[in-house]
Amino acid sequence: MRYNKKELRLRVDFNNMMSKSVGQDGFTDKQLLAASAEAESAFESVKAGRGKGMMGWTELPYNQDEIVEDILATAKYVRKNFEYFVVLGIGGSALGPIAAFQAICHLHYNELPKRKRKGPKFYVEDNVDPERMEALFDVIDVEKTMFNVVTKSGSTSETMTQYLIIRDVLEKKLGDKASEHIIATTSRDSGNLIKIAQKEGYKTFYIPDGVGGRFSELCPVGLLPAAVVGIDIKGMLAGARYMDELCSSSNPRKNSALMAALMQHLAMKKGKNVSVMMPYADGLKYMADWYCQLWGESLGKNKNLDGSACNKGQTPVKALGVTDQHSQVQLYAEGPFDKVITFIAVDRYRAQVAIPDGCEEFPNVNFLCGHTMNELIQAERRATEYALTKAGKLNHTIVLPELNEFTLGELIMFFELETAYTGALMQIDTFNQPGVEEGKNATYALLGRPGYDEKREELASAPQKLNRYII
Ligand code: PA5
Repeated sequence: MRYNKKELRLRVDFNNMMSKSVGQDGFTDKQLLAASAEAESAFESVKAGRGKGMMGWTELPYNQDEIVEDILATAKYVRKNFEYFVVLGIGGSALGPIAAFQAICHLHYNELPKRKRKGPKFYVEDNVDPERMEALFDVIDVEKTMFNVVTKSGSTSETMTQYLIIRDVLEKKLGDKASEHIIATTSRDSGNLIKIAQKEGYKTFYIPDGVGGRFSELCPVGLLPAAVVGIDIKGMLAGARYMDELCSSSNPRKNSALMAALMQHLAMKKGKNVSVMMPYADGLKYMADWYCQLWGESLGKNKNLDGSACNKGQTPVKALGVTDQHSQVQLYAEGPFDKVITFIAVDRYRAQVAIPDGCEEFPNVNFLCGHTMNELIQAERRATEYALTKAGKLNHTIVLPELNEFTLGELIMFFELETAYTGALMQIDTFNQPGVEEGKNATYALLGRPGYDEKREELASAPQKLNRYII
């Protein structure tokens, strides 16, 4: 599909980050100018790292032509032969597929009749709650299901547990044909899943080496599930490329992701420890979840790049406009000055719903008549933005002309670049996750994985819980 990139350009409105709008917590042009050298050096360090080490994700919009063709052919095969597609994965191996599905597919996709869906019913199992696993078996027919096991490390307990359960069920039902129901997405040459996949003969897609879980939506981790449900993955990649182009200047005034990073960095220095992501679109509800992982796991660190100790980061919080106006916005407006709020606005929704006439005798209801839901959601967003600005709370708005594959790609690239620039400004390693690894290793030790005896001893010698504190 062709997209008009100029018409679909993502814009960011930073007005309400400035002191002239928001008062003393905001920035002045002079402050931004004074920080521009710092921003430029963050830009240069990200630019120098592109495609190297853990920054393979910067090249994903450019280097996957062959893989995309394989993904499209596989997706076509899955659509023709299966009625259910289930992703098994967690963290970065699940949040992107969930976000893209929600953003592009019908909001009640699985409930639609088959002829109205572009692909099989779609589920992402990103937990090991036994009730959820059992519930899955109540709504799928494994004999008509393709499972996509996604794990970069090839050893994450949650994903491998789900895999073991699924494999067992498949083998009992289908015997030798079980392997035709599993696609593996994993590292080419490390971890256990690749070895299992080779032994069992699974169709396999590779996660490129320099692409960490939370930066993996634009590689087969995200592209295969997206293609299966009929999402135009070439459009997503084109949008990401366009955003990358738009962010090619070291001047924050000409690079929206760099400006966003600079402002978040300066805001953190002023004690803004919370980053609220609040899209005004149900389609972007899970983009906020994806963002929370990207922002939290990338920037929450206890070491600077020079090895010195720190405790840095900004706690990401998800909210949904307008729903959370009726729960969280009271806190944002009147609570502590510790947040930066990012609204996501959509200019043109994919539906237009008129509010019909009625209740003429009740003017306080009737004023809504003749308007549309589209006008109402826009008015509520503007009103909330106004109220928070009036209360002196830092906020900015990302504007998507409409929500489609191209703008989704732009948004993903925007957030990935913003995160990389922010990490560079903070002088931390954006791409590791030792805090997550610690928990993974403790789980391995608790469940008796070979090679984890030392960790098991460490856990045994940790302070034991005392009953007197359990009431
Ligand atoms: O971003 C990350 O690296 C993590 O959140 C991982 O995606 C998550 O822990 C799952 O890891 P894996 O893909 O190795 O199973």
